[in-house]
Parts: sequence; C-alpha cells; structure tokens
Amino acid sequence: MTTALRKTALAMVAKGKGILAADESTGTIEKRFKSISIESNEPNRRAYRDMLFTPKGVENYISGVILYDETIRQKSLGDVAFPQLLASKGILPGIKVDTGAKDLALCPGEKVTEGLDGLAKRCAEYVKLGAKFAKWRAVITIGRNMPSTTCIAANAHALARYAAICQEAGLVPIVEPEVLMDGDHTIDRCEEITEWTLNAVYEALYINRITLEESVLKPSMVISGKDCPKQAGVDEVAERTVKILKRCVPAAVAGIAFLSGGQSDEVATAHLNAMNKMFAGELPWNLTFSYGRALQHPSLTTWRGAAANVAAAQAALLHRAHMNGLATRGQYKPELEKQAA
Ligand code: 13P
Repeated sequence: MTTALRKTALAMVAKGKGILAADESTGTIEKRFKSISIESNEPNRRAYRDMLFTPKGVENYISGVILYDETIRQKSLGDVAFPQLLASKGILPGIKVDTGAKDLALCPGEKVTEGLDGLAKRCAEYVKLGAKFAKWRAVITIGRNMPSTTCIAANAHALARYAAICQEAGLVPIVEPEVLMDGDHTIDRCEEITEWTLNAVYEALYINRITLEESVLKPSMVISGKDCPKQAGVDEVAERTVKILKRCVPAAVAGIAFLSGGQSDEVATAHLNAMNKMFAGELPWNLTFSYGRALQHPSLTTWRGAAANVAAAQAALLHRAHMNGLATRGQYKPELEKQAA
C-alpha cells in the first residue's frame, strides 16, 4: 500500500529533481546577507526568498523547498503565502523544525540538536500551514577524541524522536546527520565516522518505530576534511560514499538527498553526478540533492538585494538547479557550465 507519506517521500526524491534548502535560521541568513552587504531584515528576507521561489520553470528541477519558521508564515511579493505559492507550482513545502545545534554537556566542542520540546504541537501547526515534510539537522564534529559515543548516541536519539513525532503528525521526516567537513582529517576518518553515525541513526530509528519507507535520509558525503592536505578526487568520493550508504542504509528508505556542507557549487554537482553515473540501476534508492549553499550561492551573489538583479539571479539559480537535476541522472558534464556562462 502506498501511503500519503510514502507518496510525498518518493516525490521529494523523484529523478531529475531535488530539494532546495532555504531554511536558514535568522542568524544564518544574516551571515549570508553580510557576505553581500545586505541588512538582514524581514522585507529583505522576504524579497530574497521570493526571488528563489518564483523563477519560471524551477519546478522542473526542484521537488521541494525547506522553509524556516518565519518564511512559512510570509507572503510572496505577489501576496500569496509561500507554502501555497510553492504548492501551486507542484513544489512540496517543507519546514525546518529543529531549534539548532547547542553545546553538548560534558562533551567540549560537540553539539546536540535541540527542539523536541513542544514539537508535536509545532508540527500540527506546520501541517495546517501547508508543510508536507520536515527537516532536523544533527552535526557530528571530527577532531581529536571526537566524535564521542555520547555525541553520536544523543544526536541519533534526538533524530529518531523527531522522526517519530513528524510521522505521527503527518510529515515526512528528512533525517539529516551531518558529519562536518571542517578539519584536517583524512577521507578514511570521514568514512569511519560516517559509517558509525549512520549505523547509530538507523538503530535509533528502529527503536523509535519509524516507518523507513516514509522517510528521506539527508547525509553528508564521504569526503576529505576541508584542511586535509590530501584531497580525494570526485570518483573516490563517489565510490566511498555509496559504499557506506550500501552498508548502513536500509533499502526501505524512500530516498537519499545529500547536503552540500560547504562544498563548492560545481564540486557538489560533480560528486552527485559521479555517484549516479557509476551506480546507475544498482541502488535501491534514488540519490539526489538537498543543497542550500551549493544551490543558492550564485543567485545570492548576483541578487545583492537589488530588484534590478532579480532576473539574472533567478537565471543563476535555474542553471544550478538544472545542473543538479542532470546530476541525479548521471548526465551532468562540466562543459555545460561554460556553455551557460
Ligand atoms: P548546505 O547544502 O548548505 O550544507 O545546506 C543544506 C542544509 O539544509 C543544512 O541543514
């Protein structure tokens, strides 16, 4: 039987499409706006999100958009509530429901994601506002004596409790355990920690009675630490990432949508493409994108807060979305970037 949640989950990861993560918290969007010297106020945030959500044809490459609490309550410049605007284009509205990664007690340098208190009530409200899926991001830091068992267990448990509350409320949970790429660790170390994290997460999801068919995984890729002197190439990242996913992620999961995590736009696209090309027809799940920075970056820097730049900014977003859409089919080529330029 295909349930409504299963249908939504499969639509989120449909071939040729992926998810636009536009759920930056007020603090994070302020950082992004600072980089283009724009003040982070409500009208500017609304104008920016309006620019991202309204390009003609964006629905050809974007299956869903993750919104932030402020955005799900805002109206477009054309005076339509954002969730309704997205739904009218056939794009699924989603919502970030965690309240951020906070210091984990007795584990210096490590974080645990908060937001379980009152979550059932908030989910019920988000459903009324039109949300079809939700997101919760856990962060795992690699460092000296890190991550700790404490950190992995606390985050896996919180992710599973969140996922259970979402499914009961009628939202598809995106389960996002992000192993950070910050640091000088090797790709071997990233692989080992990603495997540990995913195993802990799927054990917690089982204990908490999650219906995996109605969930989407949003993992980080197995990649060299940002400051590691030896950087693994595209094919190695693709091979190692898929190897670990095969080991740890049950086939029942509806699909996998990667975060970009600070990878450059084109590298994030190339990695996704390589996985889909190398493992075409071999995997039980579609592999797609749920990128924030790697989708938004060119449009943010083109927009710069000026109405006159909206058309060019939207073209930049459409281009990135198109390239990533091709990558979900293993049909992306770097030459296509130059053609667009
Ligand atoms: P990035 O793709 O910029 O990592 O953001 C994705 C996201 O939603 C992080 O939670």
